[in-house]
Amino acid sequence: MASSDSKKQNPSAKLWGGRFSQKTAASVEAFTASIHYDARLYRHDIAGSRAHATMLARQGLITDEERDLIIQGLSEIEQEIEDNRFLFKPELEDIHMNIEKALVDKIGDPGKKLHTARSRNDQISLDIRLYLREESERIIGLLTGLQQAFVRLARKYLSAVMPGYTHLQRAQPVLVSHHLLAYYEMFERDKERTRDCLKRINVMPLGSAALAGTGLPIDREFVAKELNFPAVTANSMDTTGDRDFAVEFLSVCALIQIHLSRLAEELILWSSSEFSFITLADSFCTGSSIMPQKKNPDIPELLRGKSGRVIGNLMSLLTLLKGLPLTYNRDLQEDKEPIFDSVDTVVPSLAIATELFDNLSFNTDRLADATRSGYMTATDLADYLVLKKVAFREAHSIVGQAVAFCIKEKKELEDLSLKELQRFSDAIDQDVFDVLSVKGSINSRTSTGGTSLTTVTDALCAAEKKLGMGK
Ligand code: ARG
Repeated sequence: MASSDSKKQNPSAKLWGGRFSQKTAASVEAFTASIHYDARLYRHDIAGSRAHATMLARQGLITDEERDLIIQGLSEIEQEIEDNRFLFKPELEDIHMNIEKALVDKIGDPGKKLHTARSRNDQISLDIRLYLREESERIIGLLTGLQQAFVRLARKYLSAVMPGYTHLQRAQPVLVSHHLLAYYEMFERDKERTRDCLKRINVMPLGSAALAGTGLPIDREFVAKELNFPAVTANSMDTTGDRDFAVEFLSVCALIQIHLSRLAEELILWSSSEFSFITLADSFCTGSSIMPQKKNPDIPELLRGKSGRVIGNLMSLLTLLKGLPLTYNRDLQEDKEPIFDSVDTVVPSLAIATELFDNLSFNTDRLADATRSGYMTATDLADYLVLKKVAFREAHSIVGQAVAFCIKEKKELEDLSLKELQRFSDAIDQDVFDVLSVKGSINSRTSTGGTSLTTVTDALCAAEKKLGMGK
């Protein structure tokens, strides 16, 4: 009886339609709907509802039979969605109401009790947190995969040499493996940041209800335990208006993509004929529709290009939050597309970058040649003089003059005779030639974090151990 009465008074036929006397305009339904993108939260929404219904029954707010019907109904709906048999309706706005309406249609009155002590405002916060928790774990796994690719290559090219650059000018010779392990560290920080951000994502918001909490006897801690959250949020008003955890997540994504972009920039440069430091596998390049000779590094270019949208998504969310009064505002519905887009960009980017690294080779001869010009052992010569008690500033100036002499004579430092070298400083002796060689230069850099073979070998072993890569 009660339900047919309420139907009469509810021409809008919405779950929230009781106080409305007109049907919602079709244009409004189209404008406010989010189901075309938030449908992907169905698993998270259903997991939350299951835990919520279990708690409601424990608290005596619904019966055990009602709980079982709700949970059974939700499982069927989940299966229907998975099998593509579920009809999403835009007039039901979002994933929450599509599922709730389907549940009521399926099991009748018990379905109407599911939303007890809950609001879509805390529900959506839960869904996004569950989603981001999953995606964060996935990203951490992909970051590990990428690090393993760097480490495999570092092992393979452990003692290969290359020029290290500052200002994109040849600076000092380094090991290829040292360069690769620099990226290992960069992405290690991204992993740490993702884990840290997870701490703020991983807090259970349900029970905040619309904004003020609820007078019904719920058990938030139980729901948290059911859903594997270590804690519940502290303030219901903060909770319903908070998307800081999503900002942090998007900022982590932006930095990951920026790191991929920097890496991509190097690959693009290195694969050019000007550098010829690496060769990308044919299967990981594309051709030109007009220039038959071309082999283009499109993957790194897209990795670089996609950083724009990931940075943009972070800016979107920050801007979205900027002027919002507490607590929930419908503006917050606009958080999801940037979140999804960043995930959909970063996840495949990390995966393809890993594949790319398994499909490139370093041209070690060419890299070694490149270390032989550019006076890259000049700092070593200065350091040599320092060890012979010459003040560093003076040593710097002496070596500067030696380099100027080499430029004029079209010679490398290594090519100078002892006599020629001694014209610049009488502190120079026969042993100078040990430090002027590329190998000597590299292997002298034994300071912690430096490029000597021994330090890099230690760093590589530590990385392999951390990544669980047994030799
Ligand atoms: N679709 C909404 C969102 O994504 C869910 C919450 C809607 N709440 C409301 N009171 N209209 O934010």
